[in-house]
Amino acid sequence: MSLIQQINKRRTFAIISHPDAGKTTLTEKFLLFGGAIQTAGAVKSNKIKKSATSDFMEIERQRGISVATSVMSFEYQDTLINILDTPGHKDFAEDTYRTLTAVDSVILVVDCVKGVEAQTKKLMEVCRMRNTPVIIFINKLDMEGRDPFDLLDELEEHLSINVRPLSWPINIGKEFKGVYKLFDHSVNLFDASITDIQENIVEISDIQDAKLDQTVGERDASKLREDVELIEGVYEPFDQELYKEGLLAPVFFGSALYNFGIKELLEKFIEIAPLPGPRKTSNRDITPTEEKFSGFVFKIHANLDPNHRDRIAFLRVCSGTFERNKFFYHVRNEKKLRFSAPFSFMASKRDIVEQAYAGDVVGLYDSGNFKIGDTLTEGEKFSFKGMPSFSPELFRTVVNTDPMKTKQLHKGLEQLSEEGVAQLFTRKMGNARVIGTVGELQFEVIQYRLKHEYSASCNFEPMAAHKACWITSENEQQLNDFLRIKASNIYTDKDGNIVFIADSAWVLQSAQEQYSDLEFHFNSDFMLN
Ligand code: G4P
Repeated sequence: MSLIQQINKRRTFAIISHPDAGKTTLTEKFLLFGGAIQTAGAVKSNKIKKSATSDFMEIERQRGISVATSVMSFEYQDTLINILDTPGHKDFAEDTYRTLTAVDSVILVVDCVKGVEAQTKKLMEVCRMRNTPVIIFINKLDMEGRDPFDLLDELEEHLSINVRPLSWPINIGKEFKGVYKLFDHSVNLFDASITDIQENIVEISDIQDAKLDQTVGERDASKLREDVELIEGVYEPFDQELYKEGLLAPVFFGSALYNFGIKELLEKFIEIAPLPGPRKTSNRDITPTEEKFSGFVFKIHANLDPNHRDRIAFLRVCSGTFERNKFFYHVRNEKKLRFSAPFSFMASKRDIVEQAYAGDVVGLYDSGNFKIGDTLTEGEKFSFKGMPSFSPELFRTVVNTDPMKTKQLHKGLEQLSEEGVAQLFTRKMGNARVIGTVGELQFEVIQYRLKHEYSASCNFEPMAAHKACWITSENEQQLNDFLRIKASNIYTDKDGNIVFIADSAWVLQSAQEQYSDLEFHFNSDFMLN
């Protein structure tokens, strides 16, 4: 198969949602359709859940929160589908944002009872920033949800995106009868007793067909006709180009728990979702069809086995062909590396891969060579953009509670920050270490992992901190003055860059005013320029 054929075959996306909207259930059902798992039916089995969410850490099992971001690949109708799972919990938002840099599109799951929720908004903001194409799946139609027109209005209002329904529900909750597929004029009938992957499709010639009345009853048929008339009047016809530009989101309705509406969603997704696309780097745009391989690491994860210190780096292939045992160029380290056991995530088990193409995610065993955002090429020097660290929201000073294990503590903190669990800052004056996170839970994860993987222990002390910003300047004199006067607030990040942690918004603002030749960067993308 040629490189172009390989690329055309691939669709790499993430399913995102506010926790509990049904992301895991939908993922399971996709895997079921793809034959990657076999248990059919609306089974509320934790076993399936585990294989679908791929637990890497015990902490995840203990808490029941999907801490890990994993990848699930399967083939459906000659298309190779890579689903990148994202943690729903808000404290792992950074993990999710990074994963979103590695996908070409997303499916957003919305609970029809709850509508747009806090995390739905935040995740969509990230998608809008990158113009990621979005398909919306309104889930749980078997429950007494909100009026579908109200839901669409809410989506448009809160997510700043135009929507276009491609299916339409016939009632909701106890009265839910199925959906009318606006794109092929057929009715998919809902039957709560059918829980396997079959569908009950009734073909009708158009919405006026009398067969519709016989199928769903006169009352519901006439309500559906009214709704469809309204939809066709209010919403523009679906435009695939606008979808691909991230400006228009097609909407589907269904019930993941009952396997309902999944097939049409998956098949339409394959038809319209973008192929692996071009990507920006520090030098130029990279197109997937370029012969030379390139890719970047978007996620680093501790290995399953705590006795092994090596980690797994998740590499998104962006161009050319990744090959096992071939030397590639690690741009940041300026060294050549090859991988003897790279693996794919086919059918939720790990298989060694010989070759991988744009859109694929490859797992690489890593003994400490990688940091998040690292680029691999065939020799060319460039770095993929768009993998910035943002200023954390919470800051705590690390207090070592086992002085005999100081070395282990420092090593552990460094490695966990390279994995992106949190950001580590070292104070210039006195070397105190500060951890910055986006959520409380990370502090617990760090403590747990330090104990279990590094035999080190620590506590965290609160500190006055508003924001961290990276500082650069061409005015050396002013920079030196700033570093001297603000010495107690000056830190270095894991790469040795200068970071200013401002105590308050006021302190930050007055520093910006007073030191007008300094640049205050609120994310780390400036390093690529
Ligand atoms: P998440 O990954 O987005 O957090 O959500 P998840 O799929 O875990 O679903 C959250 C809850 O919603 C689960 O119930 C799940 O069974 C239920 N659910 C998902 N899709 C549907 C649907 O279409 N209809 C209905 N009625 N429920 C749905 P749970 O009781 O919290 O968990 P569990 O005991 O099933 O594991």
